[in-house]
Amino acid sequence: MTTTSEIAAPETIKTVLLGVTGCIGAYKACEILRGLQKRGVRVKVVMTEHATHFVDPLTFRSLTHEKVAVDLFDDPTDPIHHISLADEADLFLIAPCTANVMAKLAAGIGDDLLTTTALAVTAPVVLAPAANVHMYENPITQRNMNALHDFGFKFVEAGEGYLACGYQGRGRMADPELIVDYVMEQLEGASTAKGQDLNGTPAVLGQDEDGALSASVRDLEGKKVMVTAGPTVEPIDPVRYISNHSSGKFGYAIAAAAAERGAEVTLVSGPVSLDAPAGVNVVRVTTACEMLEAAGKAFADADLAIFAAAVADVRPANPFNRKMKKGTDDAALAAIELVENPDILKTLATAKDQQFVVGFAAETDHVVENATKKLKRKNANLIVANQVGGGRAFGQNDNEIMFVEAGGASEPVSGTKAQLAQVLLDRVAPQL
Ligand code: PMT
Repeated sequence: MTTTSEIAAPETIKTVLLGVTGCIGAYKACEILRGLQKRGVRVKVVMTEHATHFVDPLTFRSLTHEKVAVDLFDDPTDPIHHISLADEADLFLIAPCTANVMAKLAAGIGDDLLTTTALAVTAPVVLAPAANVHMYENPITQRNMNALHDFGFKFVEAGEGYLACGYQGRGRMADPELIVDYVMEQLEGASTAKGQDLNGTPAVLGQDEDGALSASVRDLEGKKVMVTAGPTVEPIDPVRYISNHSSGKFGYAIAAAAAERGAEVTLVSGPVSLDAPAGVNVVRVTTACEMLEAAGKAFADADLAIFAAAVADVRPANPFNRKMKKGTDDAALAAIELVENPDILKTLATAKDQQFVVGFAAETDHVVENATKKLKRKNANLIVANQVGGGRAFGQNDNEIMFVEAGGASEPVSGTKAQLAQVLLDRVAPQL
């Protein structure tokens, strides 16, 4: 398989101003900070007074070796501290960003160092909200978020999960890793990813004509998108199973990107440890048979169906209902009868109507040849081919893919899975 170079490092050191506001997620800002530093970014920290109750400024000072700004008037050497902080930033990330701070930003209030800096900054501002589910879903908070979105603020939206307050629901700050990836994309500009389109012309990854990131393109508004992701898990007995190494990262990135572009997205997910992407309806399943049933429901009225899941090809015909014991049950374990699982993609695509169907091909060798066979055999419109094995694709944040269509295969395109998700949608959106 032809290889392309990795995403280029930024030519100059960029500065991210990391704003930390007062909520329990503040400790995760340390992880974000380290993640950005590992990617070669200089990080300066500004905190609200409330944030200092959760993490001592000394922690951030030790991690950055730079002064941590908290009070408007605490630096006698710099009488207009909010302006100098704002001017230094290539990007202002506020993570976690409380409902209160979003309300202040939406109203243009600057009553402390962090909010006055946000008013003064001309660089992109990225918010990673965190709040109790009721506070997050409160129409006032939602109105403020919409207003901020319209003002050009960018969001890495909160995910669902168990919240520190004991509630379960949306409001948990997005994973630090996702936030770091998003910030890097903003800093590097999607054009740093390498790739070519089918005709050999350089692909403009994730940017529209105006140079805006395609994450802000709403070209899937009114469209229904179904995505499968993750592995399936086929039980042998209550503790053993057949599965594979799919982490769900690629499928989740595609679902997130489609939702960002305005689609109504259903993500049928095998067991993975990822939070639901913002604005995506996640249907969690375990086995291939369950995935077929859930995917079938979402497929019926989908405009676009993307099958990124790594479905186990076989399952034990008769799973044991008690744990099989080594020594006493060896013969039964050795004689496990396997039956073929349904081919979800093939089953649904064979009966396709309005749906544009994207399948995947995970191949260790003869990638294009095998993907082309899958395109025909499974009746897909497009196959995303990726080479697997040797630590590639499965579980990774980056990937290299080719698009295989009736007319042939594209050049390889490499980038983060989030970037490649946008490239894939750039390719299929005009065909819907
Ligand atoms: O989840 P990640 O860690 O991010 O890794 C991403 C990935 C490697 C899982 C992804 O990029 C990928 O390649 N997904 C498809 C994996 C796979 O099972 O490929 P396949 O070549 O075996 O299957 C071909 C296609 O048929 C796939 O679209 C698959 O979803 C579908 N299929 C396969 C078998 C089956 N029983 N039902 C299916 O629907």
